[in-house]
Amino acid sequence: MNGPPLAERIERVLFTDEEIDRRVGELAAAIVDDYSTGGASKDGEGRPLRLVCILRGALIFSADLARRLTIPVEYDLMSVSSYGNGTAPGAVRLVSDLAMPIEGRDVLIVEDIIDTGYTIDYLKRSLAARRPASLRVCTLIDKVSRRVIPTDIDYAGLPLEDDAFIVGYGMDYAELYRNLPFIGVLKPEFVE
Ligand code: PRP
Repeated sequence: MNGPPLAERIERVLFTDEEIDRRVGELAAAIVDDYSTGGASKDGEGRPLRLVCILRGALIFSADLARRLTIPVEYDLMSVSSYGNGTAPGAVRLVSDLAMPIEGRDVLIVEDIIDTGYTIDYLKRSLAARRPASLRVCTLIDKVSRRVIPTDIDYAGLPLEDDAFIVGYGMDYAELYRNLPFIGVLKPEFVE
């Protein structure tokens, strides 16, 4: 790739890696508290919480969150994509499904960002139809100002009123910048 290193393409940093790390720790503590006291769990068999990482954006957040959880967890992966071309607003495409059934299990969907809400609405409907014991949502970024479909979020890390297009910590622009350890806004010259 030509041009300056990734970090030099950022106009401003919204959340540093230290801020993200602190908030991930707080989210993990809340999740551990809820699930270890049975607050969210309806699974009478005491089976581990099943994390569902939504690829690709939530890959890095899920990995960090999972490592901060001190309760037994299992994880599975699901890949969806929003068309985002304006011709079919809100259309969500299933790219690859879970590997394991979730019936009767406590399931926590892990997202990097909830924006319009179309994707999480699709995911909740899709997973609820499989009859989990409980279904909750954890997102790192909650872009509240952009919501089109109202949705309950059980664990929201960082509310964002700013409508800026953000990259880093799993989030991309044209598939780049996901590997930045912080979250920021691109300089306009790097946005086509
Ligand atoms: C992003 C993000 C969420 C979704 C949120 O995924 O990871 O899944 O958009 O947007 P919404 O609330 O407006 O539906 P994207 O489709 O960009 O794919 P990616 O995870 O592979 O980056």
